[in-house]
Amino acid sequence: MQTFEAFLSDHLPKASSFHPHYEAALQAMLMAGGKRFRPALLLAVVRAYAPLLVESAYHAAYAVELLHTYSLIHDDLPVMDNAALRRGQPTLHVRYDDVTAVLAGDALNTYAFEVLSNAPFADRVLVRLIRTLAENGGARGMVLGQAIDCHFEGQLLTLEQMKLLHVNKTAKLIAASLKMGATIAGKRPMEEPLYAFGIDLGLLFQIQDDILDVTQSAETAGKTTQNDADKNSFVTVLGLERARDEADALASELHERLARMDECLRLELSALLDYYINRHKESI
Ligand code: IPE
Ligand code: IPE
Ligand code: MG
Ligand code: MG
Ligand code: MG
Repeated sequence: MQTFEAFLSDHLPKASSFHPHYEAALQAMLMAGGKRFRPALLLAVVRAYAPLLVESAYHAAYAVELLHTYSLIHDDLPVMDNAALRRGQPTLHVRYDDVTAVLAGDALNTYAFEVLSNAPFADRVLVRLIRTLAENGGARGMVLGQAIDCHFEGQLLTLEQMKLLHVNKTAKLIAASLKMGATIAGKRPMEEPLYAFGIDLGLLFQIQDDILDVTQSAETAGKTTQNDADKNSFVTVLGLERARDEADALASELHERLARMDECLRLELSALLDYYINRHKESI
């Protein structure tokens, strides 16, 4: 069976032309790696309920990773977080220029839906997957979160507002990955419970990311850190200790919810999440 990474390498966006670096820019951040957390979530659900469909699910897993990678390229731009390092490499606007980074992001966003449209599933499944990705990655999901994140820099939000920011910015795409796994496996009744679990998992993931921004070096994180001082991060709003407490509480709750899941799902997700649920404890 082909691995997901091999599939990704085989399906890198191609756009050869006389432009000196456009195609290389489209591919650079995808090839740079990253944790591939969202594809792993989607594939874990498919592996639990429909193991024979795992390879067919690669298109969908890759589509989520493409949309996520586009969001990172734009997130690092000088007008957003102004970060120089991503996935262990110089960011695209540093290596090339702002225009190249903006356009590479745009291209990956659209390419995500092109790849998804080519997944080997019935049309009604494809439409459902496309809708889930668009609803969660776009205007009422990740983009809304980024808009709030950037607009309210330097202005402290309430805890409720800050959670809404992070649910949109980060949690919805993570929740969508789990839901898309259920859709592919033909497990409609599992779509909503997995989505709800994914929202809380995504919130934990962002609290951890905010903690690691202050506790990890750029070298260890592979990206610019110490970069959230003006942000409404869990650390700036709650302080490091309360952010850790919040992460601990959410981590134990997620462990309990995991323990109550169907055995096949529990085994697949635990294998993946044991590390992620406790990631914020790394730096203590
Ligand atoms: C970083 O996402 C941005 C957040 C939503 C916190 P990841 O931590 O998944 O980044 P990669 O994909 O591993 O580079
Ligand atoms: C960005 O959150 C989330 C996205 C939608 C890309 P951050 O700005 O905290 O992500 P990092 O820390 O730069 O990876
Ligand atoms: Mg950001
Ligand atoms: Mg950032
Ligand atoms: Mg961060």
